[in-house]
Amino acid sequence: MITGDAAIAVVGCGYWGKNIVRNFHDLGALSWVCDVREAVANEARTKYQVRATTNLADVLADIEVQGVAIAAPAAEHYRLAVQCLRAGKHVFVEKPMALTEEECRLVYHAVRESGKQITVGFNRRYASTYVELKNLLRRRTGPAVVGCRINSPGISGSYWMADPAIGGAILGEACHFVDLMYWLLDAEPIAVSAFSLPTGKQDPIGENNIAASFRFADGSVGNLTYCTVGSRTSEGERVEVFAPGMGADAEDFKRVAIRTRIVRKHSSLFAEKGHAAQMNAFLSALQNGKTPEVTVRDGVRATIGCLRMLESTRSLQTCPIDLDWVLDGPAQ
Ligand SMILES: NC(=O)c1ccc[n+]([C@@H]2O[C@H](COP(=O)([O-])OP(=O)(O)OC[C@H]3O[C@@H](n4cnc5c(N)ncnc54)[C@H](O)[C@@H]3O)[C@@H](O)[C@H]2O)c1
Repeated sequence: MITGDAAIAVVGCGYWGKNIVRNFHDLGALSWVCDVREAVANEARTKYQVRATTNLADVLADIEVQGVAIAAPAAEHYRLAVQCLRAGKHVFVEKPMALTEEECRLVYHAVRESGKQITVGFNRRYASTYVELKNLLRRRTGPAVVGCRINSPGISGSYWMADPAIGGAILGEACHFVDLMYWLLDAEPIAVSAFSLPTGKQDPIGENNIAASFRFADGSVGNLTYCTVGSRTSEGERVEVFAPGMGADAEDFKRVAIRTRIVRKHSSLFAEKGHAAQMNAFLSALQNGKTPEVTVRDGVRATIGCLRMLESTRSLQTCPIDLDWVLDGPAQ
């Protein structure tokens, strides 16, 4: 549990970090900003009148700082998260939590040894359209069929997230949908089979374009169609679920249809993506001494699910997903 007002530092204040900075500022919790680029840190300092630094050690030395939100590039996540946990800070890390099995183990053990909380930015769990799908699936009487189709042409060109050497769009973004399927079904993914577009080219990057099928512990199945080659005029994401006597679909955080004996549909003009709600929930979990809904195990699952998906595209085999097998390995 934390005492008094939560003091949160944001590490990495680039394209996405700016939103995290704004949200924690609006929640009255922002105390530091940290970015290796001095101009970026100073811009946030001027805008929000908080302390700024290029050196994480300054943040970690401040005993008033209770939580650190990490929005640096994915390759930095596990190292920064472990450093913050070992310094006694709670952590909100953007997805993916880690890029390899070894990184997963290091974060997992750092959480256990520090007794501090970590949560991962799986904001879809807090978006009202997906909450409606989950509430419907809770009432299902048998295994479900889930379909996620994502069009993400923005993850291309020189954006670091497009680079398969550091996880590419699959670990960088498709990890959201491994977590989403698990959370919607409340069932562990146990195996995946996947194909990608031809690899070895810079444009398009085949590894970032995947059709994958997952099998879940309760017998449910899920398809993930993830692409970066598409047009910006196609919609971004569509998720469809089916279970005995029921169906539902959600599009772009704006439209949802729940289909049982009757059809109930609604839509909104603006996409409500759940980011602010997740940051708010993180703060209140810390203030009330509770574990945030998204835990280190969720971070591990999403990374391992993506790694196995990529492995399957290379081996052309179905790959088992076994979190305990990964976590039981030795931590360096
Ligand atoms: N949840 C979402 O919807 C969503 C959307 C986009 C990005 N993201 C996540 O946000 C994170 C950042 O992505 P981005 O697109 O803003 O990248 P970016 O490159 O625009 O910004 C990263 C920032 O981190 C800084 N940085 C790099 N290493 C650092 C370090 N060791 N310490 C402190 N600062 C460091 C860089 O100078 C840069 O300002 C990623 O984890 C990404 O997955 C989440």
